[in-house]
Amino acid sequence: MSATGAAKSRGSGGLTRTYAIDEMISAKTIAARIEELSREIRTSFAGTDKLIVVGLLRGSFVFIADLVREIDLNVEVDFLEASSYGDSMESSREVRILKDLRGEIGGRDVLVVEDIVDTGFTLSHVVHLLHSREPRRLETIALLDKPSRREVDIRATWTGFEIPDEFVVGYGIDYAQRNRNLPFIGKVRFT
Ligand code: IMP
Ligand code: MG
Repeated sequence: MSATGAAKSRGSGGLTRTYAIDEMISAKTIAARIEELSREIRTSFAGTDKLIVVGLLRGSFVFIADLVREIDLNVEVDFLEASSYGDSMESSREVRILKDLRGEIGGRDVLVVEDIVDTGFTLSHVVHLLHSREPRRLETIALLDKPSRREVDIRATWTGFEIPDEFVVGYGIDYAQRNRNLPFIGKVRFT
């Protein structure tokens, strides 16, 4: 499967760049991996009275939707939005909280759900912030990990797939707000 796109990006000096999207991870492969991960999470948090699953907006919205439906525990869902790339393909390395959680997490079991760990700045910042609220337990899951891009020493507790240094879209993940609705993960190739 493949798709195409065109985006006005800050990184290109405001020029519209056209690109093709080549499938990297199929919808079927993602679904199978989520089943495995959910089983591990279910086991790890067995006995919890409630698991607060925190999705990092906006990139994790598809992942968290599929994940929570596979986790057979008492789950509560909340969201947090941290500042992102803007429309560029480069990390700003400066993380701000744009939308905070609605609920309290003190003394609770928490699972933070991220789409991609790239430089690691976002996840590291969010984990530090949430730790300061003294949850009973705080774990993290990332659908994708680009270990070769890491600048901050952090690793999610669970990772779906390790991928090479490619810019990817689909399954909730965007390029300049586009392509989030693709059912698969694809890599952007400029044409
Ligand atoms: P980090 O702070 O550099 O680890 O960046 C993490 C965030 O950057 C992720 O949550 C994504 O929103 C975004 N990001 C990183 N790599 C990509 C990519 O390949 N495509 C789209 N967004 C990405
Ligand atoms: Mg993100």
